[in-house]
Amino acid sequence: MLPAIGAIRPWTDPAITSMGRLPMAPPTAAHSSISDARSADPLDTADAPWRTTLNGKWHFRLFDHPDNVPAAAVDKPPTAAAWTKVAVPGNWTMQDVVDQNGDTDRPQYTNVQMPFDGPPPHLPDRVPTGVYRREITVPKKWNGRRVVLHLGGAESVHAVYVNGDFAGYGTDSRLASEYDITDHVTTGKNDLAVVVVKWSAHSYAEDQDQWWMGGLHRDCHLEARAVTRITSVNCDAAYNHISGAGQLQVNTLVGGTEHPPKGWKVRTSIETLAKKKVAKSVTRPVPHRFAAPMRFTGFHVDASFDIDDVDPWSAERPTRYRVLVELIDADGKVAEVHTQLVGFRSIEIRERQFFVNGQPIWFFGVNRHDHHPERGKAVTVDDIRDDLLAMRRHNITAVRTSHYPNDPRLLDLCDELGLYVIDEANIEAHAYNTSLCDDPTFRNTWVDRVSRMVERDRNHPSIVMWSLGNEAGHGANHTAAAGFVRRTDPTRPLHYEPASFHEGWIDGGRASSDVVCPMYPTIADIVAYGENPDGDRPLIMCEYTHAMGNSNGSLADYWDAILATPGLQGGFIWEWKDHGLTTTLPNGKKGYAYGGQFDEPIHDGNFVADGIMSADLTPHPAIREVEWCYRPVAVEAVGKAKLKIINRQSFRGVDWLDARWQLIVAGEVVDSGTLDIEVAPHESVTVGVPCAMPAEPDAHLSVCWTQKQATEWAVAGHLVAWDQIELRAPKKTKPASALSPSTGARDLAKIEPQLSLFRAPTDNDGYKLMPKMTAEHGIGGHAYWNWLKAGLDAADDSTSTKLGVDHEHTVTVADDGSVTHRHRVVVPEALDDLGRVGTQFELPTGFDRVRWFGRGPGENYPDRKSGSLLGTWESGVDEQPYLVPQEFGLRTDCRWFECVNSKTGETVRIEAITPIALHISATRFTDADLHAAGHATDLTPCRTLIVKVDVAHRGVGTASCGPDVLPQYEIPTGKYDWSYRISTR
Ligand code: GAL
Ligand code: MG
Repeated sequence: MLPAIGAIRPWTDPAITSMGRLPMAPPTAAHSSISDARSADPLDTADAPWRTTLNGKWHFRLFDHPDNVPAAAVDKPPTAAAWTKVAVPGNWTMQDVVDQNGDTDRPQYTNVQMPFDGPPPHLPDRVPTGVYRREITVPKKWNGRRVVLHLGGAESVHAVYVNGDFAGYGTDSRLASEYDITDHVTTGKNDLAVVVVKWSAHSYAEDQDQWWMGGLHRDCHLEARAVTRITSVNCDAAYNHISGAGQLQVNTLVGGTEHPPKGWKVRTSIETLAKKKVAKSVTRPVPHRFAAPMRFTGFHVDASFDIDDVDPWSAERPTRYRVLVELIDADGKVAEVHTQLVGFRSIEIRERQFFVNGQPIWFFGVNRHDHHPERGKAVTVDDIRDDLLAMRRHNITAVRTSHYPNDPRLLDLCDELGLYVIDEANIEAHAYNTSLCDDPTFRNTWVDRVSRMVERDRNHPSIVMWSLGNEAGHGANHTAAAGFVRRTDPTRPLHYEPASFHEGWIDGGRASSDVVCPMYPTIADIVAYGENPDGDRPLIMCEYTHAMGNSNGSLADYWDAILATPGLQGGFIWEWKDHGLTTTLPNGKKGYAYGGQFDEPIHDGNFVADGIMSADLTPHPAIREVEWCYRPVAVEAVGKAKLKIINRQSFRGVDWLDARWQLIVAGEVVDSGTLDIEVAPHESVTVGVPCAMPAEPDAHLSVCWTQKQATEWAVAGHLVAWDQIELRAPKKTKPASALSPSTGARDLAKIEPQLSLFRAPTDNDGYKLMPKMTAEHGIGGHAYWNWLKAGLDAADDSTSTKLGVDHEHTVTVADDGSVTHRHRVVVPEALDDLGRVGTQFELPTGFDRVRWFGRGPGENYPDRKSGSLLGTWESGVDEQPYLVPQEFGLRTDCRWFECVNSKTGETVRIEAITPIALHISATRFTDADLHAAGHATDLTPCRTLIVKVDVAHRGVGTASCGPDVLPQYEIPTGKYDWSYRISTR
């Protein structure tokens, strides 16, 4: 049995949140001088002077239950063969360990459901428990100081033993725990054991949609702290946007194990990052006695500064300042120096708008989890930086830390790079959504998690809202937590989605949410809210446009509504990355696993792969549309010959960008030039079209904005924003540019396009791997199930008549050898909501490049094409980009499309005749191949080229979690008539 706590079993009791844990404070370290403090890097604190990192390989043993951990496992040396080694930070679930019975403990993915039976606080029979052991060294020079153990994060609860003595217990997998272990150590070598229990009563409050893992997944260190020391530095840096002045309040808590002695002082200063002092330092005595108990306010020193003319912090201009706090002893000697980086900014909600520094802002956001395909929950500062740089490259300037406080370095980086953050507490009780929030045994859990997050993170200017968690109902426990935040940090609004979900958007849940922050609302609903004068809170979607597979349909329609409707201010895409985990898959290949691929009996399949990026940060095609919707400057047509340039930024002009225009006629660039224009923040300027009005049809003007200078995330010349305006509509013409005479050896008459009304289902059409979710719970898209019922997946030319489809196909061979196909199809009422109406044919081996005049460069769909410009594009053959194979690679609005054999030069050209443009793709997979495959690694690309030519193609929508395609992107039944010519060269 575990010493000291084995009999109490705190992991079974939700009311016990910690034992012997130190209070939370903003991360800080003691330095011996101002210059040392200045050079400290908040992103790399391992080498702080009084610190020893504990990261590295630890001895490890896994048990099947905390009750079955023998005392010897924490108090006898870990020498027996049963001990293995694992990486800290890391998840043991990613490191191939087995318990005392030889059983593995691998990742398990569930969404809403708990991985074991309830009700809370019931735990399963098997509770994987890892014992981590290592030696720790207490150097001689630490004598007289307090030794503090810092554990950055442990899933789910943990207990600490030092030299066999119980030294503390902590909960909340996503915040650090610190313990003063001085009384358990001696100078020299000591033994540390950390017992991590994977399932606990607290797991019910950590039921987020992600992999369940186990382990010490964040940085750990040992630190020697002075007996009298600075225990916390709280900074509030406000900005007065009218006067331009900054107001800084620094509250320094002095304490430690003994009360401060007489004569000590705190000196507080503020300077720019270039070490320029911006205000006189403030020196004040530290209260040292309890002389007047009634008036005693605590052992803290307040310093307040009014500074004219500060550079405020915003995501567009993330200016930071350095606060330095010196603790001075009775002899006037500097005992220690601490530093915090701050940013001056103000937040206000009024007139149903969210203001930063007096200006409304747009939330161009994404939801982000800490995730790494090999290390699970253990992310490095480089991983985080890579995420954030990629976000900024794609115009994403806001992050919600779904659904828990992320690794703290994320916040330092958001402060530095300029991203607005919603910081979310680690509370989700999705499976017991409406009970735990009112359950008194969980009240401490709620308050502890929220308050400790605020205490850790309050100094970060990037945080603009506190979130009380996710999907945990709305109850008194929330009100208790909200009360703490409102009192402790009145400068930031509260965010909590379920508050208004359960109690109404207009008036509901005000105790816990100052914004209406729904998830996956329809466009109609958010517009209705915006138009209802009774709604006085801004609406910021905490989750929208579910990026599972081929998705994000109507993103531009959302933004049209957001930009046009007062009260709507943007939202956070669900979500940034797929949570694929590298493993050997059931098919024997190496690849990214989704739920179920670790043999988990209970799981939620590929619902964990719903990122706009893949797990390794390869962008999914829809990122292009995101980047376009989130662009900082937009160009619209006004009348026939004018352009309106709209600056969507709040704090800067557009002079950091170069603007270049191109006139494109029939796919060819015929003229180009630059635009020299300045537009003030939130303003627009109307100018004449910069070129002569073309006489020819199908003429477009593109305007592209590129970075003048390199930034940390992109090179000079990086494309930031673009728009295209139609100057002259395309006209129906006879195909003028057939590649005639047809000299190719190819007999084009042998190409026999087959009618095709099916597309390999996207995750939005229906979850092909999770039929039960739809059949039993009604969740997910329905179109695919209707296609299957109708037998469309197996239909071809010969069977489509059985489905009641009328198809007339005429083939005309011209003298030049080119072949014109005309299809007349009548889709019967019964086949409502098809995937596509088109044809498919195969070209032989060797065709390896494509060229087209249509929308590009990447794949685009009828409801996800606003960011894809019309032009002549060229590329190789697309690879299948999604973890679960599905429809991909379409190029809409193609006037023509060419397949090229780059070795022989042979080109097969498809030209739209009627209508003027068709939707075309050319890939290495048939719909049947894509449909049959359950994982990207199941696919074998064919050597031939599969060409699909569609007159109609269904939008992609977001029905995997959210609204399905809007009616205008569905395929109506009735008549279709289309023709195209195939020629060769
Ligand atoms: C939301 C939830 C997220 C995720 C998403 C679907 O309901 O907050 O955690 O589950 O749906 O992917
Ligand atoms: Mg959930």
